[in-house]
Order: sequence, then structure tokens, then C-alpha cells
Amino acid sequence: MKKYYITTPIYYVNDVPHIGHAYTTIAADVLARHYRKKLGAENVRFMTGTDEHGKKNTEAAEKAGLEPQAFVDEQAEKFEEIWTNLNISYDVFARTTNPDHYASVSRFMQTLYEKGDIYEGNYKGLYCVGCEKFLTEKELVDGKCPDHRTVPQAFEEKNYFFRLTKYLDDVRKLIETGELLVEPASRKSEVLGLFKQGLEDFSVSRESVAWGVPVPWDEKQTVYVWVEALQNYTSFAGFGLRDEEFEKWWPADLHLMAKDILKFHAVYWPALLAAAGLKLPKRIFAHGFFTVNGQKMSKTLGNVINPTDMIEQFGVDATRYLLLTQFPFGQDGDIQASRFVEKYNADLAGGLGNLVSRITSMVVRYTAGAVKDRRITREYNLGELEQGIQNLQFSEVLESVWAMIAETNRKINDHEPWKLAEAGKMKDVEKVLAEAVLRLRDIGTILESFMPDTSEAILTALADLEKITKPENLFDRK
Ligand code: MSP
Repeated sequence: MKKYYITTPIYYVNDVPHIGHAYTTIAADVLARHYRKKLGAENVRFMTGTDEHGKKNTEAAEKAGLEPQAFVDEQAEKFEEIWTNLNISYDVFARTTNPDHYASVSRFMQTLYEKGDIYEGNYKGLYCVGCEKFLTEKELVDGKCPDHRTVPQAFEEKNYFFRLTKYLDDVRKLIETGELLVEPASRKSEVLGLFKQGLEDFSVSRESVAWGVPVPWDEKQTVYVWVEALQNYTSFAGFGLRDEEFEKWWPADLHLMAKDILKFHAVYWPALLAAAGLKLPKRIFAHGFFTVNGQKMSKTLGNVINPTDMIEQFGVDATRYLLLTQFPFGQDGDIQASRFVEKYNADLAGGLGNLVSRITSMVVRYTAGAVKDRRITREYNLGELEQGIQNLQFSEVLESVWAMIAETNRKINDHEPWKLAEAGKMKDVEKVLAEAVLRLRDIGTILESFMPDTSEAILTALADLEKITKPENLFDRK
């Protein structure tokens, strides 16, 4: 692999960012940082952004008493700000109201049209604005959208349809053989199940929605917001705009998201790409959906957690850590917010923070800040941990790191360097501390992608084995 292009979903701006968005984005950031170390920063492109068209956003703009553009500008800024505060190292922030995106989408749609993969039809159906999609009668619960608990709007208009059915066999085969990876395995079966149930051509334009990218051959219509949003992955890589750039980055190496939007990414998007004659993404990973303290996160319940509040309470790295360690990535789970403080104190203030402070204090005190570089026997395999990151096993990797922390602590307790020092056995003191320092360096190295500031503080303090310093307290007890 020479380059790595990773994306998050582009988030709707009708609402403010919450820890659901943060969860995916932090995970993508860990991967982007990891691959920058492996491939060099110039060979990694990490993209996130905002989905700014469609009904959902215009309705929110109206509520806020703003013109759509003014509203989405304000909201997009909130996302960028939060990502900066969370130390998200994105390279590109994709906003779908960017004129370049319009040009790229027009080009893409025109290609499908000229190929004969678009036809005119009449659409009659039930539309859920919350989902920005049509629902079938079967999907409704008590006549309502099960996710948004609202009655969908009956809707009939002239639309353009995409010949999805023409590409279904090809896409299915690619997923089956793993040429297009859909992960985890449970999600792959889910997607293959969709093919089995049968899928129909779908409409890719709207007559009644003005806030969008105009259909190039019929300016009275706009491109359906989902179809246009998916194309952010190609347009912000330069499709139809900057050929050399597109050549370098496409296809995407990983589209990351939660399972709620898997069908769009694993069925519609590959089919659209195939129709446009473009390569398909290499890997699609849909992680689980989480609840907060056992309940669905929702405005009505008032349990939506804002990442800014978490950062204020715990700091950036602790927020990243607390979110990624709640349950295995890929599975559904629960964010136990009521236990954040307990976990913070145990793992961060008491665990890692205490270990760093303990070791560096002893080195400064007993060996004047200098230890010898020795060979250490490692009970852990750094390569395996790196592989774990590449497999998106974030909570497992962090668990292993915390086992290393506990082990390093235990070794210090067993050898009691303070007693050795009292007995004047300074060579032994140095040996025990040197080993602990080298382990701590490994810990700092693995944490680079997860907790960048913490890792830097550790690695800087231990950079010169002749002049080890004690860093400031990493995590204050809460
Ligand atoms: N705009 C579309 C995506 C277009 S991508 C071409 C959209 N936006 S969204 O704002 O609703 O974001 C959905 C994504 O937010 C999920 O796929 C997931 O990445 C993240 N999450 C939002 N809530 C979440 C949870 N409760 N749990 C896990 N992920 C969550 O869909």
C-alpha cells in the first residue's frame, strides 16, 4: 500500500455535533495518524465534512430564521471547531455547498445520463425527512418511521431513476469475493441479505427540493441529497476537476461509518461508481450504534452528550480514550457516561498518569535522570498491536496497552527500587528503572495515534535517556 485515503460520513448540519459523530471521527483519526507514521503524511488523505443540502437542513434553517447558506455556514463551522478541539487531523473538510463539488457532481451525473443509466419516471412514495429517504409500508411501525417516530410525507413527482438493477450482480459478486470488503462480517451478511431480498432502481433527483445541486440536463430538478452526498468522496478527491489528484487518491482505502448508513455505502455507492466507470472503494467498515447509559441518545430524552462538555471536564486525550474504550469497535454498545469519572480516575489519573510520574520521579531522584539503553524482553508484540489498529480493534489494542501499564507497575512494586537504593545497590536500581523507561516508551509510541498530546509528553520526557525529565501531571484526579 502506497497511499491511504480514509473518509468519515459527511454529517448533516441540521443539528450540532455530538459524541455519535465524534466516535466515528476519532476512530478515523486514529487510523489516519497510524498510516501517516507508516506511509508519510503526504501519502495519507483523511477527509471528513458536512452534508449541507436536502430538506432536513432547509427545515432547520427555517426554524433558525436564516437563509440556508447562512445557516449551513454557521453549522459547518461548529463541526470544524469541534474537530479542531478534539485534535482531529483531517486533511480535507468536504462541504457540499462548495462550487467545486457542484461541478464534480454534474460531471458524474452527466456521465450516467449519457451512458443511458438514467431514465425518467414518476415517483410515488412516503418520504421521511429525518432519514432523507423513501420508506416502504413494510418499514413503518404504527404508520411512523421507526427511527424518527414521525409520519412520513406522501409524495408524488417526476423523478429521474438510476438503473441500479443493471449493476446489482456485479456489486454482489465483488462483495462476496471480498474484492470489495464489507466489514465486520456480520455487516457483510446483512448487505448480502439485501441483495437476496431484491433491490429496485431508485430515484436520484427531486423536483420539489430547490436546495441542492441542479441536475445538469434538467435544471428544474436537483440531485437527490444522498446521491450527491456520496459523491463527496470523489469530488473532494478531484473527480472531474483535477485529474492527477484523483488518479493519486482514488479509490478510497476505507469508508468508515455506522451501520445506519451501510446500505447507501455498500449497495448504492458501488453501483453508482461502477456505472460512472470508476473504481470501487477497497473497504467499507460499519461500526455499531450506541446508546448512552442504556438509552437511545435523543434530544427528547435530553441525553445527547456534547463532545465539548467532555473535553472541558476531562481534556482532549481522555475524551478520545473514554469514547474508544467503551465497547469493541464494530459492535453495538452502550456508552457508560455515568462511569466516565470512575474510569478516568482508574485508567488515566491512577493508571497511566501515575506510572509516568512514578517512573520519571524515581529516575530523576535515584539515577540523576540517566539510564542505560538496554535490551528488554517484551511480553508484548508491538507489530501485533499495530495490526490491531489496522483491523480497527481499538478497544482491544487499548486494553493491551493498559495491561502493559499494569505489568510495568507490578514489576516496579516487585523490585522495590527504593529499597534497592537504600541498600546502595545502584546498578540494580538503574536496571529496573531502565527497563520501566523502555516499556514506557513503547506505551508512548503505541498511544501516538490514540492520544497524541499524552504520547508526545511521554516521548519528549524520555527522548534522551541521559537526561530524563519528569513531565507535568498528565491527568489530574477528578
Ligand atoms: N449525511 C449523512 C451521511 C452522508 S455520507 C455520504 C448522515 N449524516 S448523520 O449526521 O446522520 O451521521 C450519521 C453518522 O454519525 C453515523 O453513520 C455514525 O458515523 C455517526 N453516529 C451518529 N450517532 C451515532 C451513535 N449513536 N452511535 C454510533 N455512531 C453514531 O447520515
